[in-house]
Amino acid sequence: MNLHPRLRSVALLGLMVAMLLIVGACVAPPVATSGSTEAAAPVEGAPAAAVSGELNVLCIPQVEWCEGMKSEFEKVYPDITVNFVRMSSGESLTRIRNEKDNPQFDIMWGGPVDAYVAAAQEGLLEAYDSPNAAAILDPELMKDANNFWVGIYVGSLGFGTNTNWLAENPGVEAPKSWEDLLKPEFTGQIMVAHPSSSGTSYTALCTILQLKGEEAGWQYLREYAAQVNQFTKSGAAPAKFVGQGEAAVGIVFSHDIVAEIEKGSPMVLTFPEEGTGFEIGGMALLAGADHPDAAKLWFDWALLPATQELGPKYAAYQAPTVEGATPSRPELLEAKLIDYDFDFCGTNKVAFIDRFTNEMAAADNLKE
Ligand code: G6P
Repeated sequence: MNLHPRLRSVALLGLMVAMLLIVGACVAPPVATSGSTEAAAPVEGAPAAAVSGELNVLCIPQVEWCEGMKSEFEKVYPDITVNFVRMSSGESLTRIRNEKDNPQFDIMWGGPVDAYVAAAQEGLLEAYDSPNAAAILDPELMKDANNFWVGIYVGSLGFGTNTNWLAENPGVEAPKSWEDLLKPEFTGQIMVAHPSSSGTSYTALCTILQLKGEEAGWQYLREYAAQVNQFTKSGAAPAKFVGQGEAAVGIVFSHDIVAEIEKGSPMVLTFPEEGTGFEIGGMALLAGADHPDAAKLWFDWALLPATQELGPKYAAYQAPTVEGATPSRPELLEAKLIDYDFDFCGTNKVAFIDRFTNEMAAADNLKE
């Protein structure tokens, strides 16, 4: 199995849990399944159960999953009403920066941790050492050493190519490398989000800079930007538009491509052979927020295996980050993954995005 060593634990654990479940099913009396929301009971170390009121969540993943998480949480904590706004990572960072003195959100959930690294450096996050974070599979990779953020999912970047377009263009193959994206047949046929708004697109940008080194990386990014048909605001949007035939190839997280294929889009998923980037989807409390106790309940709940296994119910196929949760698509982490450096990418996020915007592609008129 060609799995990045730092993520091997995620896929292996999935296998072990599946085996244990089979053995357990043979010897044990019936118990609530790990996918059941009943398992998401209040946890040791969490704030008093009598928390009630509102919880404002800044939700970065796809809206279907945000809606699902809201209703699942409210089932477990009926005295708390969750209000969420779905926004891409870059927009979220700008929003919490602007609201620093009067935070409107209590917790930020999802989106690559590069933005969380940047937010922590700017003093926008509140440290929280959840008792449930002890179950994190790889604390060095998936948990901030100062407890400003924790990982809640993992996903790899891939390419989604429209199979009808391939059929109409005999001899053209779906891209299998970053270099392939520069081929003349893909000029004006590539769709990706803009890195200023999207964490997905920023993951692609920072992957290139790490793979090629900064000098060659920026040169490549200039040519890559010139191949793009249109930049979108949200990271997953190109998967949808490529499925509809608006462009041939989308650069998107592989789980978003799988979700579109499941919905019936004519697409094939490929990975770049030079290596691809991956995200640790993050979660953090926002500094100075109004409802810290409710936010801690969400934080603890989001780290339960049962909660992390809810993803596929809402078309979210990211891999979980805690022991005891089975990945729905472990094969998506079997692509050749680079040793993505979240500190490097988080620390340089503002500077790299400014450079991309100023030198390669302004962020005006992004496709919604
Ligand atoms: C999609 C993916 C998530 C990712 C998010 C980032 O929703 O499924 O795994 O974290 O995009 O959003 P953005 O719009 O900032 O690229």
